[in-house]
Amino acid sequence: MRKFTAGLFMAAAMMTATVAQAAEPIVIKFSHVVAENTPKGQMANKFRDLIAERLGDKVKVEVYPSSQLYGDNKVLEAMLLGDVQIAAPSLSKFKKYTKKLQLFDLPFLFKDMAAAEKFQQSEAGQKLLASMRKKGVVGLGYLHNGMKQISASKPLRTPADADGLKFRIMSSDVLSAQFEAVNAVPLKKPFSEVFTLLQTKAIDGQENTWSNIYSKKFFEVQEYITATDHGLLDYLVVTSREFWDSLPDDVRPVVKASMDEAIAFGNKIALDKAISDRKAIEESGRSQVIDLSDAERQQWVEAMKPVWAQFEEAVGQDLLDAAIAANN
Ligand code: SIN
Repeated sequence: MRKFTAGLFMAAAMMTATVAQAAEPIVIKFSHVVAENTPKGQMANKFRDLIAERLGDKVKVEVYPSSQLYGDNKVLEAMLLGDVQIAAPSLSKFKKYTKKLQLFDLPFLFKDMAAAEKFQQSEAGQKLLASMRKKGVVGLGYLHNGMKQISASKPLRTPADADGLKFRIMSSDVLSAQFEAVNAVPLKKPFSEVFTLLQTKAIDGQENTWSNIYSKKFFEVQEYITATDHGLLDYLVVTSREFWDSLPDDVRPVVKASMDEAIAFGNKIALDKAISDRKAIEESGRSQVIDLSDAERQQWVEAMKPVWAQFEEAVGQDLLDAAIAANN
């Protein structure tokens, strides 16, 4: 009898353990490199909160900002290995997985954020979300940061002013060609190193959005920022195909809808921050913002735009035409 009771007890304990195990939520680690007060940082936190509201018992999102978990050079590999589930690297950081996204780095491609948004939401733009599926990477959506500006330790008004200067760039061959086109020296370096490189004067400048220049305090260690709006810095929010396909059928649509909502929230912040962070930098008096005349800006266009020819074949003429058409 005692044996029978002990057996029953063991069976009950095992059942409880199994139920507890089955009830463990799915953990989504979302790793990114920027500060929490940026469009991407706020979008990631919004996604975490929406999932907690809607799927709290089934799914838990953990957000790791400011390269705490992985820098952008490692995060996609980590995602494919299952160590993180969501990342949102800049569109410039997918070279290993597709050449098509090089499109977004072409200098002076989109005249403003509305044109970038129009292209991203077009049929051609949406098709790109699936362009890395065979490599195991699934695009969930585009997220804005904004147009890039160029900061430097000396005032840059014309391309000749950049001659011989060292600029940090993201890991993109297009961006390399873009700075070589103005006789500058591009250096591919992780985002987490930029502040120190600027502070120690190991480099002379860098290109980035108002939000990144402000939130990472680049403006405190760069005397000048030229408002060039010469290129786009947006993100692709990605997950791994393996993880995405493994989600239960009643969970996946809720995760996707929450991500769409979080992206829309982040996009609104991006547009607002491009204005407010520029203003905050100007008001700080730490860095002088230089606005170009039309003639000066045209010189940058003429110097940089010829790099398109080097990448047209890899990107594809159809895609390029669709992006150009979004400016109308
Ligand atoms: C980011 O905004 O995620 C980083 C951009 C950069 O590497 O400059």
